[in-house]
Amino acid sequence: MAPAAAAMWLRWAAVMVIMAAAMVVVRGGDVDVTRKNIAHVSYDGRSLLIGGQRRILFSGSIHYPRSTPEMWPSLISKAKEGGIDVIQTYVFWNLHEPQPGQYNFDGRNDLVKFIKEVQSQGLYVTLRIGPFIESEWSYGGFPFWLHDVKGIVYRSDNEPFKFYMQNFTTKIVNLMKSENLYASQGGPIILSQIENEYKNVEAAFHEKGPPYVRWAAKMAVDLQTGVPWVMCKQDDAPDPVINACNGMNCGETFAGPNSPNKPAIWTENWTSFYQVFGGEPYIRSAEDIAFAVALFIARKNGSYINYYMYHGGTNFGRTASAYVMTGYYDQAPLDEYGLIRQPKWGHLKELHAAIKSISNTLLEGTRTNFTLGGQLQEAYVFQGKADDCAAFLVNNDGRNSALVQFQNSSFYLPRRSISILSDCKTVVFNTSKTSALENPRSFAVSQTFDSEDRWQVFKDVVPNFGDTSTRANGILEHMNTTKDVSDYLWYTFSFERAKNDDSNAVLHVYSLAHVLHAFVNGKYAGSAHGSHDNLKTGLNLDQPISLNEEVNNISLLSVMVGLPNSGAFLERRVAGLRRVTIESKNSKKLEVINEYEWGYQVGLLGESQQIYTEAGTNNVQWSNVNSTSLQQPLTWYKTTFDAPQGEEPVALNLSSMGKGEAWINGQGIGRYWPSFYTPKGRSSQELYHIPRSFLKSSENLLVLEEEMKGDPSKITLVTVNSPANRICGKLSDSHLASVLSPETLKKSVRGPRLRLECPPEMTISKIVFASFGTPSGDCNNYAYGKCHSSNSTKVAEVACLGRQSCSLPKSMHKFGGDPCPGIPKSLLVVAQCE
Ligand SMILES: *[C@@H]1O[C@H](CO)[C@@H](O)[C@H](O)[C@H]1NC(C)=O
Ligand SMILES: *[C@@H]1O[C@H](CO)[C@@H](O)[C@H](O)[C@H]1NC(C)=O
Ligand SMILES: *[C@@H]1O[C@H](CO)[C@@H](O)[C@H](O)[C@H]1NC(C)=O
Ligand SMILES: *[C@@H]1O[C@H](CO)[C@@H](O)[C@H](O)[C@H]1NC(C)=O
Ligand SMILES: *[C@@H]1O[C@H](CO)[C@@H](O)[C@H](O)[C@H]1NC(C)=O
Ligand SMILES: *[C@@H]1O[C@H](CO)[C@@H](O)[C@H](O)[C@H]1NC(C)=O
Ligand SMILES: *[C@@H]1O[C@H](CO)[C@@H](O)[C@H](O)[C@H]1NC(C)=O
Ligand SMILES: *[C@@H]1O[C@H](CO)[C@@H](O)[C@H](O)[C@H]1NC(C)=O
Ligand SMILES: *[C@@H]1O[C@H](CO)[C@@H](O)[C@H](O)[C@H]1NC(C)=O
Ligand SMILES: *[C@@H]1O[C@H](CO)[C@@H](O)[C@H](O)[C@H]1NC(C)=O
Ligand SMILES: *[C@@H]1O[C@H](CO)[C@@H](O)[C@H](O)[C@H]1NC(C)=O
Repeated sequence: MAPAAAAMWLRWAAVMVIMAAAMVVVRGGDVDVTRKNIAHVSYDGRSLLIGGQRRILFSGSIHYPRSTPEMWPSLISKAKEGGIDVIQTYVFWNLHEPQPGQYNFDGRNDLVKFIKEVQSQGLYVTLRIGPFIESEWSYGGFPFWLHDVKGIVYRSDNEPFKFYMQNFTTKIVNLMKSENLYASQGGPIILSQIENEYKNVEAAFHEKGPPYVRWAAKMAVDLQTGVPWVMCKQDDAPDPVINACNGMNCGETFAGPNSPNKPAIWTENWTSFYQVFGGEPYIRSAEDIAFAVALFIARKNGSYINYYMYHGGTNFGRTASAYVMTGYYDQAPLDEYGLIRQPKWGHLKELHAAIKSISNTLLEGTRTNFTLGGQLQEAYVFQGKADDCAAFLVNNDGRNSALVQFQNSSFYLPRRSISILSDCKTVVFNTSKTSALENPRSFAVSQTFDSEDRWQVFKDVVPNFGDTSTRANGILEHMNTTKDVSDYLWYTFSFERAKNDDSNAVLHVYSLAHVLHAFVNGKYAGSAHGSHDNLKTGLNLDQPISLNEEVNNISLLSVMVGLPNSGAFLERRVAGLRRVTIESKNSKKLEVINEYEWGYQVGLLGESQQIYTEAGTNNVQWSNVNSTSLQQPLTWYKTTFDAPQGEEPVALNLSSMGKGEAWINGQGIGRYWPSFYTPKGRSSQELYHIPRSFLKSSENLLVLEEEMKGDPSKITLVTVNSPANRICGKLSDSHLASVLSPETLKKSVRGPRLRLECPPEMTISKIVFASFGTPSGDCNNYAYGKCHSSNSTKVAEVACLGRQSCSLPKSMHKFGGDPCPGIPKSLLVVAQCE
């Protein structure tokens, strides 16, 4: 991903456009081409060709370690049901190679299993190996041990780096080949990516940049996967690697492929944006996404669109990068829990179906374009050989709607919208018109933890200088000292207060880590934290403290909330304390502590004793909770609970807690920081997902490490009521005006329809509410208006019960006539899926 510039609010999809010219066939060198279902993947200027066929492909990013293997089948099937053809994932180097040459492909790291699951559901895969991935993932996916490789400069023409990059890339490619996962072997992988948005940083490497790009491309191509490689944001990607566009406006800004033989590829545009602790969520509307995608297809001949993310999921454990929240892209078409988010999912599904219905015309036809009256309205018309025709009517005007004439008919185009016409007449999709309503989630409290005996506590130990064994003169850099085995690094020192000095003093600390907690003589003194917006500025603590006579022990706990993930020269990044002074109040004497001898401890005692695991929990003495043990910093809390009945997703509401980490049965569910409020005064994340597969039916061990202050008695365990189970649709009178010309009205065979659709493998079990007339409200809150056709429920039941999807016509006679002539009517239906 791009460096998180503040303006880059919107992050979503990979779009590949492919344009005309010679066909490039990429063949695997040492792959077995005698197997069945082998698909040669190639491309021409118009699209990817799979088995020689041009294709328009919709792709969605789902990152395997951000969910669980138990969730993968349903995520993939919901993506497939949503009209997605390709699942795109990064490969997460620091998960797979925690130590040089030691590999881990188990559990959530089981890349092969994930790809085989995609394959078994008949979808393709785009594998973005990187191995630098950014992705709001700690250290951009690099294992921290790279930092200690002598002479290394990441992502540059640097031998040590190239060695390890090639080593890992080869490992992954060989793994894929050994499992026959490339399309050239009959597998699902149709594309691979090497590097990631390198152009963002290339200039910083001066003359070391371009040779690195050439080397990376050649290294990748020489691995002979038999499928094409892409480089995103790399306009000089060497042949035959395809240069792809990432960003907000590839439809407008992309200069195009760097060779007429290459397709234009858009690797990332964004369904939402990642959220940071203390940051507001970004809500991108379904209409806006659909507009962007349709525009890209019409204007840039787009043939491959990837949604970043289609399912964001959860940054479990300590995997998130600096300040990035534990819930990732909850606003994607599948939410953090994997539940369908409407109207996004449904609207995009309809878009995908509409595009597929005209894909032959788009791929094989010729395109003309012209303005429709005003300069801001344009038509893109694709004319096929067999007299088939498809058109995109675009209104680029962000403020005003427009009534346009196209082929003797009038079309009403809302502001910033595109209408897609299947035979250059019939509107098959309208980016502004969503038929599914929003389906807000509801959270049912399943358990509380408020009884006295529910919790046990363990107060972690604040080490004094005398307790530490690692010593150094001066201040050590945080990350290189912890090696990222923990977020925490204790910096301790002792100093003597001169007899005449005032006991009141001020402790000043300037730190480039993310959080600081100061303890003076074993007592908590104060804290400070920075924010994602001030990553480079760090934090300052100015804490009045009271000193003992003679020896004083100062212990400063420095905390990283994830490692940085972007920018050039990541290996040179520094964090942790930079300057520490103690200023005596009266004498104004300033003591610069930097030069003292310091003692260090990596991590908390509870971490090194692994007291969050079932095996480790007895390594320390826990006690019962009392009023003084609550609301204390550096406290561990534990309890057990039974899993809620049923299949609904489960989450912890940690709104009463401060900041820390949480584990269920030894598995880290992520960092929590509900006390970091957004500018609007809301907690950025209160709910923390517990995947069902982390739970046993009873006696689940929940351990919280609370760094600041929290009240565990107010924690609740909630089930997330699937918004997918209740679906709703509304068709309003304005839809009738979509095609104004009476002639086209007559020709449009079916007229406007309200479509309801359950998630895959569910059917409509009940019509909860139906009203043709003047109903008000939405999915969760609906009421009859003054005008109501008493046959509404019956009509909806006949059309929908027992079906996975259904369409309701808004035609008067079906409802037994007009219930209130002369009054604009609408149809609202709320149904239950089971
Ligand atoms: C990768 O490096 C490991 C040691 O870290 C070595 O055992 C292995 O042979 C190397 N593989 C390749 C393909 O270079
Ligand atoms: C990508 O997303 C941004 C943010 O909404 C949007 O403005 C832009 O038009 C999109 N790009 C394309 C080419 O659709
Ligand atoms: C799209 O394809 C048409 C040919 O059908 C061509 O004229 C046009 O230049 C292409 N547009 C872009 C942006 O490549
Ligand atoms: C056709 O579309 C291209 C690409 O968007 C644009 O540059 C050109 O001006 C359009 N031509 C007309 C006549 O509108
Ligand atoms: C539009 O109307 C004119 C005049 O009636 C007619 O000549 C022309 O063929 C029509 N065009 C289309 C696309 O129907
Ligand atoms: C300071 O630390 C030393 C060594 O751990 C300890 O013996 C001493 O009691 C501490 N003093 C205070 C005031 O905490
Ligand atoms: C990082 O720590 C290692 C020891 O683990 C040391 O050899 C190296 O010099 C340190 N690097 C920097 C840049 O401080
Ligand atoms: C409260 O619990 C702490 C240990 O967490 C213990 O040291 C203290 O004595 C307890 N206080 C009371 C009043 O029970
Ligand atoms: C979490 O719990 C708090 C306190 O009970 C409540 O106010 C809040 O609405 C809950 N959050 C969610 C998302 O349910
Ligand atoms: C597109 O949808 C909007 C909103 O529902 C509607 O007002 C408009 O008439 C539609 N236009 C077309 C051409 O379908
Ligand atoms: C309801 O439908 C029945 C036919 O099923 C029809 O006879 C009746 O007139 C309708 N009633 C109303 C109020 O529309």
